[in-house]
Amino acid sequence: MKNIIEKINNLKNNLNKWGHAYYVLDSPIVDDAEYDKTLKELIELENQYPELITDDSPSQKVGGIVMDKFEKYKHKLPMLSLANAFNKEDLLNFNDQIKKEIENSDYNFFVEPKIDGLSISLIYNNGKFFKGVTRGDGIYGEDVTSNVKTIKSIPLSIEDQNDYVEIRGEVFLSKTEFEKINKQRQTNDEEIFANPRNAAAGTLRQLDSSIAASRKLDAFLYYFMDREKFHTHSESLSYLEKMNFKINDLGKICKSIEEVYEHILYIQSQRENLEYEIDGVVIKINDFDLYEKVGYTAKSPKWAIAFKFPAEVKTTKLKNIFPTVGRTGRITYNALLQPVQIAGTTVQAATLHNADFIIQRDIRIGGEVKIKKAGDIIPEVIAPIIDENYYKLNKWIEDTNCPICNSLLERVEGEVDQYCINSQCPRKIVRGLEHFVSRDAMNIEGLSIKIIEKLFENKFIENVGDIYKLNKYKNELIQLDKMGEKSVTNLLESIEKSKSNSLEKLFFGLGIRHVGKKTAKVLAVNFKEIDVISNINFNELEEINDIGPIVAKSVCDWFEIKQNADLIKTLKNEGLNTKYLGNEGSKNNDKITMKSFVITGTLSKPRNYFKEMLEEYGAKVIDTVSKKTDFLLAGQEAGSKLEKAQKLGIQILSESEFLEMIGE
Ligand code: IVH
Repeated sequence: MKNIIEKINNLKNNLNKWGHAYYVLDSPIVDDAEYDKTLKELIELENQYPELITDDSPSQKVGGIVMDKFEKYKHKLPMLSLANAFNKEDLLNFNDQIKKEIENSDYNFFVEPKIDGLSISLIYNNGKFFKGVTRGDGIYGEDVTSNVKTIKSIPLSIEDQNDYVEIRGEVFLSKTEFEKINKQRQTNDEEIFANPRNAAAGTLRQLDSSIAASRKLDAFLYYFMDREKFHTHSESLSYLEKMNFKINDLGKICKSIEEVYEHILYIQSQRENLEYEIDGVVIKINDFDLYEKVGYTAKSPKWAIAFKFPAEVKTTKLKNIFPTVGRTGRITYNALLQPVQIAGTTVQAATLHNADFIIQRDIRIGGEVKIKKAGDIIPEVIAPIIDENYYKLNKWIEDTNCPICNSLLERVEGEVDQYCINSQCPRKIVRGLEHFVSRDAMNIEGLSIKIIEKLFENKFIENVGDIYKLNKYKNELIQLDKMGEKSVTNLLESIEKSKSNSLEKLFFGLGIRHVGKKTAKVLAVNFKEIDVISNINFNELEEINDIGPIVAKSVCDWFEIKQNADLIKTLKNEGLNTKYLGNEGSKNNDKITMKSFVITGTLSKPRNYFKEMLEEYGAKVIDTVSKKTDFLLAGQEAGSKLEKAQKLGIQILSESEFLEMIGE
């Protein structure tokens, strides 16, 4: 046995060393075949002696754990975000603010790329990896340990043997890996990810960790939480590097704002050549000793700022303009482009919004156009490049008929958009079904747009009611191309589960015009049951805070259509819950119910606790103070929101005043 243990340890040490060289340092010391052979040998030995498998074995990086859901995890210290700077002037202001707080001190900055991924917190206990948690709302994150474990550049054990070590950083997908995943998704008829960040987010939230393992997530670490240990940020980074974490190599100490700006321009010039997406640069004071002196606002530290890059603009040829039909029948025009690299991804389509947008800019097929892509936003055509040949191209004329069902398009008074008003337009129906099953609505997994189209074409579903009849056709569904037994079983399970959703999800899913997620919730909280909503008249609806005449009319009109009333009956017959299941609005207090609150500063419990409490009383909690705010609940060290509320004469409540008010 002693021999076996030694052998296993030997294999593990080698794999750890080679893995670090390959995944962190980017300079392999053995070839892939040797690595794979050694890993296989380790796994075989571990299979033979399962009692010798340790949590930090390199074999644990392959995933395989399947979760039901991710647990919430409270961060030991909130995960803050950063204030933004967009130009040099913002940087100078940032520096002036610092100087105000720490006269006479000499300080340096540390300037590093802002990785466009997802923040992650890694916790190690006694040198062993313990947990990986997402940012979440900053106070509570999601415990995604099983997925983080599969990230090859994150060590499962570290030299630092402290009982609690927390390190924060950014999980990302390389540009190459992103393109690879999207290509594969395209072949599988799956929807493609808009950018590497979305793909990384989708991967980190996969319940099956072998999917995460197969997608090659990566992570840069940039924040060692125990600042007592070091004097400077740069020292802490060297320490992280020594402990085998991946540290970005473009970071630099800068002695003045001038130098900071120079390094920002340098990083920006490297942006296109990098293997990962960055969306700006982070500037931090390098000296830890000054952090507490410089301090924090409610949301972000004052000792750091994020310099955001402007959206990238490129020129390419407009090959064609094609319309698409949305769920509501709205027509969107799209540009088919000569493929062009922009912000790290290949772009071949961009939005042109509506007909007016194209006509006002005189955009013509065959000409050159400027396009821009900013963050999450879909690439957009900004303007044509007009040269002497431009006017030889044909002027573009808007479509008059629906590209799908050919019915005449209409324009609603006062709106710029054209609509297909044929309620039987196949595209509208399919898009409506897609909306119904989407995550914020009924959250039915396994019904991608491609599958919906297939089920629609094969007449399995024609409206949302039919989704709940699919269980009668299990065998027929299994026969359909690309469905298979497992995916059909999963789909039917997910459909069954959705029956017990709370009313607001169903109500949002119905796709009533002007009823977004928020409005659906307001209606559900106020009326509790779909039959109550369906029988209500315009005036009663409009009386509700947050419901205006447009929404009220749209809701009344919807229930008046016989087909819709029948649909509700069908859904009830199929056993769908039509009641509100939350406890918002379950309590009543004249002083609070229907009032709007802003919460700021540090309270005795996380802000979410107070938010949920307020919502139980049917109060609304919003982010920004305005004239419409009724109360500001202010904790310790409240900043700009408190100032603004004072200026606007809004009633300010301390935590104890608030608790007294509700009698708790
Ligand atoms: S430092 C106290 N450094 O950008 C905040 N953040 O709003 C410490 N990010 O949520 C953050 N690269 O997810 C820092 N080199 C970097 C970063 C970085 C990306 C993200 C981070 C944060 C957001 C800032």
